[in-house]
Amino acid sequence: MAEPRPKVWVSQPLFDDIVERLHAHFDVVQVPVVSEHDTSAIADALREADGALVTLNERIGSDEVAGASKLRAIANVGVGYNNLDIDALQARDIVATNTPDVLTETTADFGFALMMAAARRVTEAERHLRAGRWQGWNFKGLLGADLHGSTLGILGMGRIGQGIAKRASGFDMRVVYHNRSRLPADVEREFNASYVDFDTLLAQADHLVLVLPYSSASHHIVDAAALAKMKSTATLTNIARGGIVDEAALADALGSGRLASAALDVFEGEPTVDPRLLALDNIVLTPHIASGSLATRRAMVALAVDNLIAALGAGPDAGHPPSVIAPAANDGKSAKRPGTA
Ligand code: 8YV
Repeated sequence: MAEPRPKVWVSQPLFDDIVERLHAHFDVVQVPVVSEHDTSAIADALREADGALVTLNERIGSDEVAGASKLRAIANVGVGYNNLDIDALQARDIVATNTPDVLTETTADFGFALMMAAARRVTEAERHLRAGRWQGWNFKGLLGADLHGSTLGILGMGRIGQGIAKRASGFDMRVVYHNRSRLPADVEREFNASYVDFDTLLAQADHLVLVLPYSSASHHIVDAAALAKMKSTATLTNIARGGIVDEAALADALGSGRLASAALDVFEGEPTVDPRLLALDNIVLTPHIASGSLATRRAMVALAVDNLIAALGAGPDAGHPPSVIAPAANDGKSAKRPGTA
């Protein structure tokens, strides 16, 4: 009798024509609607699965995989994988993969767009106009801050951070960065970026962009004390993970004028947004769309599908998924590790 085909679970509707490739190798069960995390539903789905394609909506840890005796691979659609408990997966020999590189340029584009929108008050100005408050041209109305000639601070100088630095040179910005480890001199030269310590980054940046992985070490790294070290004229942009910023402290700083403006694409309690942030005018808020160009989201799903096929021993890369989350990425600090970059 023929071997039964492996079973894979796909947690969300993605792009049918790409997910279709899984059907050539596996029996596929796909959730037909976008759903929020549900531990017992995921545990039930994984009980029969050999592999799964998941997004950041699904947190996969020991509870979710407890009864998943056949599970061999989890393919995350996203570069950040703080939704996966890598220790719990490794303990059960479950391979985890993510989708780096394919989203770098698109995400850097969006980080730049958010930073510009915060600096030049784009969404605030649009709300002003749409609300009928533009009663006549005002020379001093809605004045913002320049990007050109200013200092860009980048916290997290991985692939996306470097993409932002590359864009900054076209705007004649001076680039300072802080990272867990300093980049080699030739890379610093390539991006015209100078390494500084965290406090210097906070103090010097006219525009600070967060692109670092989320971990126990970076949880609320931008807190009230950090915000107090920034220039009151500065902007703060977060395209990494919401938990990096203490949102209550940010709301205080923006409300009191301690910080000029901010732009957030990510939130600690996604999809819930702190009402204090929603009430502020000097903040740009977007629903986690930094990688959301059609071409890039398709490329992410394609890479995740390739990863899953290979991790389950099929296709041209059988046994060698293109982007395994390396055990070396384990910083040993916590069960929930890197986010993005
Ligand atoms: C994705 C992201 O949209 O890749 C990441 O880490 O945050 C986003 O680009 C998200 O992960 C989809 O699951």
